[in-house]
Amino acid sequence: MPLFLPHFNLQKLNTLAVPAIADYFVAVHNDSELREALAFSRTENLPHLLLGGGSNIVLQSDFPGVVIQLKSQGKELIAEDENFVWLKVSAGENWHQLVEYTLAEGFYGLENLSLIPGSVGAAPIQNIGAYGVEVKDLISELTALEIRSGLTVNFTNESCRFGYRDSIFKHTLKDQYVITSVTFCLAKTPRPNLSYPALQHALAGVEKPTPQAISDAVIAIRSEKLPDPALIPNVGSFFKNPIISTGQLSVLRSKYPDIVSYAVNEDSAKLAAAWLIDRAGWRGKTADGAQVHVQQALVLTNPQHLYGSAVLALAKRVQDSVYAEFGVSLEMEPRVYP
Ligand code: EPU
Repeated sequence: MPLFLPHFNLQKLNTLAVPAIADYFVAVHNDSELREALAFSRTENLPHLLLGGGSNIVLQSDFPGVVIQLKSQGKELIAEDENFVWLKVSAGENWHQLVEYTLAEGFYGLENLSLIPGSVGAAPIQNIGAYGVEVKDLISELTALEIRSGLTVNFTNESCRFGYRDSIFKHTLKDQYVITSVTFCLAKTPRPNLSYPALQHALAGVEKPTPQAISDAVIAIRSEKLPDPALIPNVGSFFKNPIISTGQLSVLRSKYPDIVSYAVNEDSAKLAAAWLIDRAGWRGKTADGAQVHVQQALVLTNPQHLYGSAVLALAKRVQDSVYAEFGVSLEMEPRVYP
């Protein structure tokens, strides 16, 4: 039986450093402990909350239920051929430590995703992405425990319905499954992705950069722009980059010639939310005790370690002002509980 700790302060377990209290906290190390924790919350008639690295969650207030942290560890090479390996990794593994492990083993593909906070099991839920790569490009399948039945189910890459910062686990199957392992298909020979301009720039002059050099460059860029959650509490990008029609983009461009956008397809384009927030005058501003980060306007920080409701109040002000100025709605990226 795993240990259930009553009246537990979650501050050290969420990167926004919200001092929310859970009725119970339990760390689980395998599927049977996970089943026991879920059974406990069912018997006690309490809601549960699954926690990985706590780096993409906003705790508005105390959590009146059972917080379950996945701590399962393990990596297993389950198949290989001439060009690829298939590596099955437990959900509780730390994301960046996995990236470092794969580089040391000579398994390539995750290098652009270096230094992203969080756990392996959480990565597919929001399809983490950075510097031209999304984790969906490397996932072959995953296993998840169905909460209602207690059964373990396999999901192919396709059945996860991945999209930009999105998957089926945020929609139809929200809160119905716990991801317990992820299988990655990684290349044995480097296949560098230098499509992202800032990465190209950082590696200019380096001939045939190795995956390790790419990882080092990504770490350098991230460290410069994004605040270290251990020092300044944050959850990375607070909003998704909004996708708008090319028609709306041309209207906006005629008024704001330097607006930053990326083509998605013939009909739509993605706007840099950071640019919109910055241009609306929010970069570096404080309101409701929370702050818009001065080096990257897409990041909201919680320097006073307040409840998530304070950060959400700032987020609402930012959303309202961006909508008033540009007519564009910003969708929040992290998940909000309770
Ligand atoms: N910009 C501003 N003001 C700012 C910051 C940026 O005008 O304060 C402009 C920049 O000049 C740049 C543009 O906005 O032209 C985009 O900025 P950046 O390249 O830093 O990327 P982003 O769109 O802000 C996205 C991801 C990040 C990911 C980077 C790199 C989303 C929501 N965010 O940020 O992901 O690391 O690209 O690929 O898609 C995360 O999801 O938590 C995250 C950090």
